[in-house]
Amino acid sequence: MKIVPAEQQVEGGGFVVRRPFPVQGLSYVDPFLLIDEMGPVTYAPGKAVGAPDHPHRGFETVTYLLDGEMEHEDSHGHRGSLRPGDVQWMTAGAGVIHSEEPSKAMLEHGGLMHGFQIWVNLPRSLKMAQPRYQEYEKEQLPVVQSDGCWVRVIAGEYDGARSPIETTVPTTMLHVKLQPDAPADFSIAQGSNAIVHAISGSAAIEGKDVREHQAAIFESAPAALHARGGANGFEALVLAGVPLKEPVARYGPFVMNTIEELQQAFDDYQSGRFGQIAREG
Ligand code: CO
Repeated sequence: MKIVPAEQQVEGGGFVVRRPFPVQGLSYVDPFLLIDEMGPVTYAPGKAVGAPDHPHRGFETVTYLLDGEMEHEDSHGHRGSLRPGDVQWMTAGAGVIHSEEPSKAMLEHGGLMHGFQIWVNLPRSLKMAQPRYQEYEKEQLPVVQSDGCWVRVIAGEYDGARSPIETTVPTTMLHVKLQPDAPADFSIAQGSNAIVHAISGSAAIEGKDVREHQAAIFESAPAALHARGGANGFEALVLAGVPLKEPVARYGPFVMNTIEELQQAFDDYQSGRFGQIAREG
């Protein structure tokens, strides 16, 4: 187990993210390629920023909001909006161009934006799959509450409650809140790598102290991760996934297995084979 800082960076489009990886020295935690905690940031009216049209190929992007409102649209004619507690699990597969922007109301009035984007790798056999969306509103995701412990099951399972999200490899994604001293056990599929990304407060995870702006990384995680909330409680995103154990060739928004496939992705993008977002007048 190791603890890494969640480094603050300014992403394209100008939004501030906390990113435990990829950073120099830690490129990915198989099968997870990126964790971005977006904000929390309070925008003044007219100042909210997002990510205008950009491509993805070869993996999945997962967006989960804690505060704020986002709208997205893409080159396959798909559009939608996300509110706190909703999840969008997008399989980019062979390729999409999409935009991820604050909602019109958020842009007009400003407000608090806080959320996550996670990139999950796809196995070689599915990197060129048809793009697919799985979108669920917060009411559709199970929440488990027991003494001092609150868990929303974004993917995978917690205490018998299962998320409707279909994942490629066994994957767990939990939004967790622990009261001070409250215990919780997160069961992890055998052979998984696991990450506990602290949002606020602190906890003992497998007996080690983890606090806000840090992530704890477990390679070949134990079958159950034991957590106990610290003096001020704890809020975190808990992730686990069975590693693909395939070569990773990545550059910006493309994640493939070989340099040649990366080059092909660039060629396809530059010659317009990803299509474009159709917009009215
Ligand atoms: Co994107």
